[in-house]
Amino acid sequence: MSTVIDHLNGVLADAVVFYYKLHNYHWFVKGPKFFTLHAQFEKMYDAWAEHVDDTAERILQLGGKPQPTLAAALQASAIAEEAGAPDAKAMVNNTITDLHTQRERILATIKAADATGDRPTCNILDGVNDAIEKTIWMLEAHNAG
Ligand SMILES: [Fe+2]
Repeated sequence: MSTVIDHLNGVLADAVVFYYKLHNYHWFVKGPKFFTLHAQFEKMYDAWAEHVDDTAERILQLGGKPQPTLAAALQASAIAEEAGAPDAKAMVNNTITDLHTQRERILATIKAADATGDRPTCNILDGVNDAIEKTIWMLEAHNAG
C-alpha cells in the first residue's frame, strides 16, 4: 500500500510537468483567442507554482523527500509533456484532460491521507481539487463557444 508520501510525490510529479506544459501553451498559443488563453495559462502556471511548492513542503513535513530532479518528476508523472504544436482548442482540451488526470491522483491522495487522520494534507489538496473542478468548468465553457 502506498504511503501518503508516495501519493504526494505522484501529485508533485504531475504538477511539475503540468507547470512547464502550461508555459509551453502560454508561449505558443495562436489565433483569435490568443490574449484570453495567453493570460489564462499564465494564471494557471502561477497557481501551479504554489501547488508544487505546497506539495513538496508537505512531503518534507511528513518526513519524506520530494523528487529532487525534473527527470524524476517526468518519470513519475501521469501527465505527458507537450512536444507537438496543438491548436488553441486542442491546448484547452489537453489541459482539461490533464486536470482530470491530476484530480484522480489528488482524490486518491486525499483518501489515503484521510485514512491516517492527516488533515493538513487533506486541507491542502481539497483546495487544489476545488480549484481544478472550477477550472475544468471554465475551460469546458470556453471551448463550447
Ligand atoms: Fe509570459
